[in-house]
Amino acid sequence: MIALGSDHAGLELKNLIIKHLEEQGIEYKDYGTYTPDSCDYAVYAEKTARAVASGECKLGLLFCGTGVGISMAANKVRGIRAACCSDAFSAEMTRLHNDANILCLGGRVVTPEKAVELVDLFLNTPFSCEERHSRRIAQITELENRF
Ligand code: RB5
Repeated sequence: MIALGSDHAGLELKNLIIKHLEEQGIEYKDYGTYTPDSCDYAVYAEKTARAVASGECKLGLLFCGTGVGISMAANKVRGIRAACCSDAFSAEMTRLHNDANILCLGGRVVTPEKAVELVDLFLNTPFSCEERHSRRIAQITELENRF
């Protein structure tokens, strides 16, 4: 199950990705926003990040104008490792090395074709499980616990 969320600036791209997930038979939950009315990205970052942090959804996809604001907000939720990416290498490596659990994309940054490529890479790349990467992620968690 994949969690999705966006603000108004990411809505169009989110809807395009929803269509892509449906075509592939991938189950998802859409945590809004559902209309093009101006809204605040932190609201939808929290709803989506909670669904991922609780285990209800395995991975999440978030969309705003740049992908940046919504990633900042999502990363405030304990257990979330949200990565804002606009290139294929980063989208793949953030699963492989960082075990990122949310990919954030900018509706005003990436083309629809690039977004589909990044989403497919993100959803289909497993965490490498190598000791050095697990150790570094444990350090991120420890940092989160200290603040
Ligand atoms: C909304 O205009 C825009 O600021 C927001 O979608 C996002 O890009 C913030 O990071």
